[in-house]
Amino acid sequence: MRVLITGGSGFVGQRLCQQLIEQGHEVQVVSRHPHKVRQRLPSGCDIRDSAQAFIQSPPDAMINLAGEPIAAKRWSDEQKAKLINSRKAATQQLVALCEQLQANGQPLPKVMVSGSAMGYYGDQGSREVSEDTAPNEEFAHRLCQQWEAAAQPIEALGVRLAIVRIGLVLETGGGSLQKMLPPFKLGLGGRFGSGEQFMPWIHRDDLVAALLFLVHQNNLSGAFNASAPHPVTNAVFTKTLAKQLNRSAIFPVPAFVLKAGFGEMSRLLLTGADMRPERLEAAGFTFQYPTLDKALGAIL
Ligand SMILES: NC(=O)c1ccc[n+]([C@@H]2O[C@H](COP(=O)([O-])OP(=O)(O)OC[C@H]3O[C@@H](n4cnc5c(N)ncnc54)[C@H](OP(=O)(O)O)[C@@H]3O)[C@@H](O)[C@H]2O)c1
Repeated sequence: MRVLITGGSGFVGQRLCQQLIEQGHEVQVVSRHPHKVRQRLPSGCDIRDSAQAFIQSPPDAMINLAGEPIAAKRWSDEQKAKLINSRKAATQQLVALCEQLQANGQPLPKVMVSGSAMGYYGDQGSREVSEDTAPNEEFAHRLCQQWEAAAQPIEALGVRLAIVRIGLVLETGGGSLQKMLPPFKLGLGGRFGSGEQFMPWIHRDDLVAALLFLVHQNNLSGAFNASAPHPVTNAVFTKTLAKQLNRSAIFPVPAFVLKAGFGEMSRLLLTGADMRPERLEAAGFTFQYPTLDKALGAIL
């Protein structure tokens, strides 16, 4: 199978590309900097600077992960626009590629698996959240909602669309753990605010497996929560991480400090959703790392 990936050079994408190449698939990566990311990807990957550049070799499947990192900078109005527009543009490129393929009479991909995040639901307090839960209106929701909406037109072209609402992705070498590990290793970790906010998480290998599951299962479309079946609160996450490192975690960071330091972006740390992978599990997907103990044990 030939699979086109946006964001293939990222924390999730690199593992995904590696897995696909190992399974004998052909991998096409769209990157803003093909030469710069070359050494991060397996040698078999064909890396080009736009989706359109693959028009002569249409993919069988597309996986859409590209976007400005969510926690890299404070959420100024300008940064918020960049977070939304980078994702919309990457997604629209894939829709445009399919429109062009159709106009040329060339074969279209069978499926697009397109990114979204737990932020789709916004702050949900302690309520259990399935794919049907009504979102809380806030910036994270608007961002994900527009990202998802940009993918919808692909369905009218006859391409199956599965959307993944991704939880916090865990593995070393990137993502949130990379930022959390240094203070925790020094015994300086602690919960954020009350610690009662939920942190849906997923081991990176399980996310990659879920993306490929959605590519292969021809009957699956719509939104899927991509997070482990046993989400935890921030306080439990903190305790579990400290225990795995044989350290204590007795330095809570008060909410007002995070709000002062990060502004509106502090909502990423202080609010959350008890998100459950209801539809993935109902479809028969099994998690290799269902509990945080097991995931962190394997990672650390
Ligand atoms: N990691 C998590 O915990 C997590 C949780 C929920 C959702 N997600 C979402 O899942 C996707 C993949 O996550 P990830 O951790 O692998 O992300 P990542 O490491 O930040 O990589 C995403 C890729 O997007 C491209 N990109 C970055 N800024 C861009 C911009 N301004 N415009 C266009 N493209 C840009 C980059 O590719 P090039 O430099 O090659 O162009 C980058 O490699 C992201 O969209 C992320 O928001 C991640």
